[in-house]
Amino acid sequence: MSEPSTRVQKTIATMRSVRPTILPSLLLCDFANLEKEVHSLEEAGVECLHLDVMDGNFVPNMSYGMPIVSAIRKVTDLMLDVHLMIREPNIYAPQFVDSGADLITFHIEASPAPTDLLAKIRSQGVAAGLAINPSTDMGLLLPFVGECDLVLVMSVEAGFGGQSFNPIALNRLSELRKMHGADLLLEVDGGVNETTVGQCTAHGADLLVVGSAIFRQADYCQAMTRLRREMQPSR
Ligand code: DX5
Ligand code: ZN
Repeated sequence: MSEPSTRVQKTIATMRSVRPTILPSLLLCDFANLEKEVHSLEEAGVECLHLDVMDGNFVPNMSYGMPIVSAIRKVTDLMLDVHLMIREPNIYAPQFVDSGADLITFHIEASPAPTDLLAKIRSQGVAAGLAINPSTDMGLLLPFVGECDLVLVMSVEAGFGGQSFNPIALNRLSELRKMHGADLLLEVDGGVNETTVGQCTAHGADLLVVGSAIFRQADYCQAMTRLRREMQPSR
């Protein structure tokens, strides 16, 4: 793995120090009041926001791109974790670096030879990782885990919020934790709620992405409190 820049080291140290932690996914937030939404999450004690970028090609849905990431960067100092669900991460990832991302993940399905892109993102001061869908063979990902700061284990097929949790993610988290030890940051995304969050942390997840279980609740603070109550220390 390439030597991490000081900024990457700092990001990773910060994320390790807060794990396990909930990352709200803004996919289902009120975009007409984005700044207010971000500040409500700050008040709820969130450390990092998860930003889902979809291109209508890699996944059958579209969300938002660089302008929204830049806009969020302007209104918060929270860590920004950008999840690229796009066909061409090689072309666009550098633009998300410029937009203010602190961590970027892209899919192994979109980039089966990810070594150069992982190194490029890290050389620009941003922590880099790979994401994998439940239906994809882990054998595609495993050779590259040593080159990642984090691995995003999807617990739904990428594309939409509000889907049900696929427990295949739990074995994958345990397997990755066993193979790579405590240093690797493990993230899980999709269907994480009060019922599933405890299983995720028990299987080694550090970063818990939550969309509907926060944004379909009236009070984000209370939703976060309930989720945190169900989490167990990861490791
Ligand atoms: C799905 C996205 C998720 C999603 C999570 O493709 O990557 O981040 O917004 O939403 P919930 O928690 O509702 O599954
Ligand atoms: Zn996501």
